[in-house]
Amino acid sequence: MRLVGPWTIVAVLPLFLTEVRSIEPSQCIAPLGMESGTIKDDDIKASSSFDHGHVGPHRGRIRNEVHGGAWCPQTQATPDTREWIEIDLKTIHVITATETQGRFGNGQGVEFAESYMLEYFRPSLKKWIRYRTKNNGELLKGNINTYLEHKTILDPPIWATKIRFLPYSSHKRTVCMRVEVYGCKYTEGVTSYSMPQGDKKGSSWELYDFTYDGHWDGEKLKSGLGQLTDGLIAPEDFKLAFHQENTQGWVGWKNDTREGKPIEIVFEFDRIREFTAVHLYTNNQFTRDVQVFSEARVFFSVAGKRYKGEPITFDYMEDRIFETPRNVSIKLHHRVGRFVKLQLFFASKWILISEIAFDSSPTTGNFTEEEELDNNIQGDQTVVSGPENKNPISAVSSTGGQYLGIIVGILAVAVVFMIVVVLYIVHQQRKYKSSPRPSQIPDKAALYRTPSLGRLTTSTDYEDVRNPEYAVPLHQSSQRCRTPPNLQNFFPKAPSLPPPSEQYYAATEIFRQGTGPVQFKPPPPPLNTPPPMRHQMPPQGRYGSGGGNRTFVGP
Ligand SMILES: *[C@@H]1O[C@H](CO)[C@@H](O)[C@H](O)[C@H]1NC(C)=O
Ligand SMILES: *[C@@H]1O[C@H](CO)[C@@H](O)[C@H](O)[C@H]1NC(C)=O
Ligand SMILES: *[C@@H]1O[C@H](CO)[C@@H](O)[C@H](O)[C@H]1NC(C)=O
Repeated sequence: MRLVGPWTIVAVLPLFLTEVRSIEPSQCIAPLGMESGTIKDDDIKASSSFDHGHVGPHRGRIRNEVHGGAWCPQTQATPDTREWIEIDLKTIHVITATETQGRFGNGQGVEFAESYMLEYFRPSLKKWIRYRTKNNGELLKGNINTYLEHKTILDPPIWATKIRFLPYSSHKRTVCMRVEVYGCKYTEGVTSYSMPQGDKKGSSWELYDFTYDGHWDGEKLKSGLGQLTDGLIAPEDFKLAFHQENTQGWVGWKNDTREGKPIEIVFEFDRIREFTAVHLYTNNQFTRDVQVFSEARVFFSVAGKRYKGEPITFDYMEDRIFETPRNVSIKLHHRVGRFVKLQLFFASKWILISEIAFDSSPTTGNFTEEEELDNNIQGDQTVVSGPENKNPISAVSSTGGQYLGIIVGILAVAVVFMIVVVLYIVHQQRKYKSSPRPSQIPDKAALYRTPSLGRLTTSTDYEDVRNPEYAVPLHQSSQRCRTPPNLQNFFPKAPSLPPPSEQYYAATEIFRQGTGPVQFKPPPPPLNTPPPMRHQMPPQGRYGSGGGNRTFVGP
């Protein structure tokens, strides 16, 4: 029974040590339905078609060979023409890759697009946006013949309800396309956020929201999405992040031009939702004047005009021990709204944020008017007003927790060994007393094995700690302590000192576990292997004879 204490400590440890980072876009890679037909013909449009029935937009499905076998616009592609095929996905999707193919047409086709551009639409943007890659390019690589597909990973991904492919050619040529889009439905529900654009730090670090796709009126960003909601976590060091082209990701604001005012970020959601938490991934390089905000206030609104009701106020306890970023979680107590306003107060000269994510679910209640929301809050949400709102303990600073985990781990291991020693001594004394002649102690193994085994295996407390949930990171130490045979093997050994090697291993194991995830490696690029070819390369002669005199018209 005495074992309960230390086991509980060991069991709590994994809570500090587990830290799983899942980058959404890398799991979001399913074909969205051009090839399979999940996207209906009615949801595929085009600027024009050479012949609707034969090569209309609905023929533009990749790896399909029906009628003309591709979508072909009426005009030939030149740098000045603008033709497109459009896919309506109905709801916001994260589009992580596109794929194109030319018109094979059973060997009769000769048309394909060597390159193309993308445009996308979201209702909150109210306009079509030309897609730009991370390197600020608009042109994506297309095809080199009529049958080979070419797939392009979109970096950054696109958040859109509709997407258009615009074939492009630097010289005049006839193009036809078959396409597919890859990604997943967007479930987080943020349709846009608005906030002040980031600031420049020193002369070289522009801590802007580079991928923001809404409007920038010189000061404020409006109606778009960008780095704060892209699911990508910036590297720990913002300077490094800025200089590595592929891994920017901190948006930063400085205090000195704001006259003590907080940073205000307003999130708009697809519908009225009930919120349980918001997570802010925040830089804490305090030696460079960057720190987690000192206070955050969270306001809710149904229509976005008035933020009624008490805000949720959250104080962050200043934390200048480790410079690693903090994932600060704020509980939102099931508050309801379609707009959420965050105010972040400066603790230092700079606030740098990489990612803001909400835990929420759509509500079914009738919240058509602001007044109704007020009634609702007064009716059953009284919890949220008053001083209970302050939840300093709800700050889950996982990176800091790791170091705490190491310390607790070492302590726990020490406690376990002490208990073992005490048990050993108790045993020793009991045997000593019961033994008629103390000088004739029988074989140690025979003496100790039976009682210890019996007690350990019948104890319900012992069964509890075998719960696999607790067993995660401390493979070495906890596993060893928990398994009865090891414990017995240990008993006959010198009990006064814990074996140094074991403690050493336990400590290093924790340390390795603890420091691992702090490095925040960018996710591996999804799907960097080309998709398998579906069509055999047709015999060269067939392809050549099929189109010899019908190839594109040169410039
Ligand atoms: C922020 O700037 C204001 C003046 O603009 C100053 O009063 C305040 O102390 C500053 N806060 C921090 C945390 O530097
Ligand atoms: C922050 O913590 C929450 C809850 O533990 C988690 O869901 C989220 O993915 C974390 N965010 C980052 C950027 O680590
Ligand atoms: C919501 O409430 C308003 C006023 O109370 C009412 O007019 C409206 O019909 C209700 N809507 C739904 C969907 O119940």
